[in-house]
Amino acid sequence: MPHESRLSFSTDEILANVDTREPLIVNGVKCHGGFDADGHYRSPRTAFRVPAIKAWQEQHVATSGTALFEIPADTVSPQVPSVAQVKFLMRSGVREPLVRQLSEIAIVEGFGAMIRELPVPPLSSFIRESTEGTALAHLASGLFEAHARDEAGWSEEGGHRQMWDAARDAALSNPAISPEIYANMIARRGAGQPVALFPELGEPVERLIRFMANVLAIEVFAASTFAWAEELLSDPEVSDAPDDAANLVRFIRSDESPHVEYLRTALSEIQARTLLTLDGKPVSGRKVVDDLAERGIRAMVRQRLNDRPVMVRDLIRKTAKVKDLEGLMREFDAIGTPWTPPARYADLAPEASAAAPASY
Ligand SMILES: [Fe+2]
Ligand SMILES: [Fe+2]
Repeated sequence: MPHESRLSFSTDEILANVDTREPLIVNGVKCHGGFDADGHYRSPRTAFRVPAIKAWQEQHVATSGTALFEIPADTVSPQVPSVAQVKFLMRSGVREPLVRQLSEIAIVEGFGAMIRELPVPPLSSFIRESTEGTALAHLASGLFEAHARDEAGWSEEGGHRQMWDAARDAALSNPAISPEIYANMIARRGAGQPVALFPELGEPVERLIRFMANVLAIEVFAASTFAWAEELLSDPEVSDAPDDAANLVRFIRSDESPHVEYLRTALSEIQARTLLTLDGKPVSGRKVVDDLAERGIRAMVRQRLNDRPVMVRDLIRKTAKVKDLEGLMREFDAIGTPWTPPARYADLAPEASAAAPASY
C-alpha cells in the first residue's frame, strides 16, 4: 500500500529522512536536513512523518466531523521590539536586544529536547475509544523523538539550537554573548507544577495534554517571532550575512511545520474522544483540551504583552551607550506597533494590569 494512505508507521519510518544530495553544513557543523537534486532544502525526518500527519488529519476530520484544533490567530501579539524598533536601535548602536532575542530563541529550541522525556501513559488507560492509526498512537513511537531531534540536534548532527546560534553569529559577526542569558531564562521559567485543573484524570494524563498544548502555543507564537527574525536577518542594514543567515531561518521555519501539525492533530483526536478518570468516569476530551490550552495561551499572551516589553526596555536602559537615553526611549516607544488584545484578554493589557490591585 502506498504510504500516503496508511495510518500506522514504525518508529524508524517516522524518523526516516527523504533522500538528499547535499548535507546542510553550518560553520563546519553538519546540521539536519539537506538539499535535493534541484537544490531545494528538505526538512529532516519528513519522508513518512509529513504524509502520515496529513493522513491522520484527514481521518480525524472525516470520522469526527470536527475541524482541527487551532491556537486562535488573534492571540498572537506583534513581536517586541518590532522590526522598525530593532533597526532604530541598531542605528543607535544598541545591539543587545537583538543579540539577546536570537540567543533566547536558540535556548528555547534546545529545551525542545525535553519532549522526548514526556511519559505517555497507556492510551487505553485514559481514552475510551480506539486510538489505532492516529497521531496519538505515534507520540511515543517517533513523533516526540523526531520533534526533540529537530529542535536540539541529535548525535553529531546540529538542529535548531545550533542553527539559530549560527544565524545570529553570521548576521551579527560573532557578537559577545552575555553569560547571564541562560540563567535569567531559567529563573523566569519559575519552579513547580501548575495547579491541576483535572486532578481526577491523574497527574500523568493532565501533564501530557498540558505539555502538548503549551508546546503547540509556543510553536505558534514562535512562528511570528521567526518571521520577524527572517525579516531582520535578511536586511543588509542589520545583517552582515543577509543571504546565509536568512536562509538558515527559512530552513528552520520550514522544519517547524510538522511540529505544529502533529500536535494539533493529537490534541484534536483527544478533543473528539472521551477521557476516563482514575476511577473510570467519563470526561469530555474537548473540555480538558480547551481548558488546558486556554490557560497556556493566557500565560503566553501575558508574557508577550506585559513581561517582555518591560524586559526589553530595561535591557535598552542597561546597555545603551547614548548621551540622550530618555530621547532614545521616547523615539523607541513612538515607533512601536500598537496592539489591543482580544476582549477576553482585556484584563492582561498593561493599562489594566497597572490599575489592578497588586494581589488578588
Ligand atoms: Fe525549532
Ligand atoms: Fe518546533
